[in-house]
Amino acid sequence: MPGRARERTGRGMDGSTAAHWEAVWAAQDPEAVSWYQRDPAVSLSLILEAVPDHDAAIVDVGGGASMLVDRLLDTGYVDVTVLDLSQVALDHSQARLGERAGSVSWVHADVTIHRFDRVFDLWHDRAVLHFLVDPDDRARYREAASAAVRPGGHLVVATFALDGPERCSGLPVVRHGPGELTDLFAGAFEPVGFVGEVHVTPAGVPQPFQYGHFRRR
Ligand SMILES: C[S@@+](CC[C@H](N)C(=O)[O-])C[C@H]1O[C@@H](n2cnc3c(N)ncnc32)[C@H](O)[C@@H]1O
Repeated sequence: MPGRARERTGRGMDGSTAAHWEAVWAAQDPEAVSWYQRDPAVSLSLILEAVPDHDAAIVDVGGGASMLVDRLLDTGYVDVTVLDLSQVALDHSQARLGERAGSVSWVHADVTIHRFDRVFDLWHDRAVLHFLVDPDDRARYREAASAAVRPGGHLVVATFALDGPERCSGLPVVRHGPGELTDLFAGAFEPVGFVGEVHVTPAGVPQPFQYGHFRRR
C-alpha cells in the first residue's frame, strides 16, 4: 500500500510546458476537453486483463482529470497512483473523488524526470506520450517507465494512431502504430497486444487512438 501524501517533484519539462497545461486545465471544464472520456473502457479492460489482482500497484501517468482513477477504485483496486504535470488537473480529480481521493497517491511531477521510490505492476498512459516530440524526452520517458515497472509488469499506453490528429491542445504530437510503439520500448518491454479505438470528442470529432500493451522483460 503506498503512502497517501502528495509528492511534488519536478516543475515540468520546462516552465512553458507546465504553464501550458496549468492554463489548459484552469480554462476548461474537465468534461469538455477533447480527450474527455466518461467511461475509459478500453484502458480499464486492458488493465483488468493484465492485472486482475486488485492488490496490483497501478500508476496512471499524465492522468490529468481522467475518470480512470474513479473506475479503478470502483473496481476494487487499492493501490492507485496518479501523476500529472498540472496541479489544477489533480485538483479536479481530487474534488470529484471527495473522500475517496485520500486512498489514492497523487504526484505532481513531470513524467520524464520523476523517479518513483517504488515499483508498479502496471503503468498506464493515455494521451501523454504523444506530446513528447523531442527524442531525448521520449528516451527519458522510456527510462522512467523501465525503472518504475517491475520485471514481468505491464505497460499500457495509448497515443493518437497513425491516422489520428497531428496536434492536440495546440501542441504537435507524435502518432504511433504498433510498430512505432514496439520500436520505442524495444529492449525493456515486449509487445503483448494492440487495440485501436476511435475516440469521439465531446464536440463530436472522431480521433483514432492506438493502444499498446507491453510486458517488462
Ligand atoms: C491529453 S491530456 C490526457 C489526460 C488523461 N490521461 C486522459 O486520458 O484523460 C494530457 C495530460 O498529460 C499531462 N502532461 C503533459 N505533459 C506531461 C508530462 N511531461 N508529465 C506529466 N504529465 C504531463 C497534462 O497535464 C494532461 O493532464
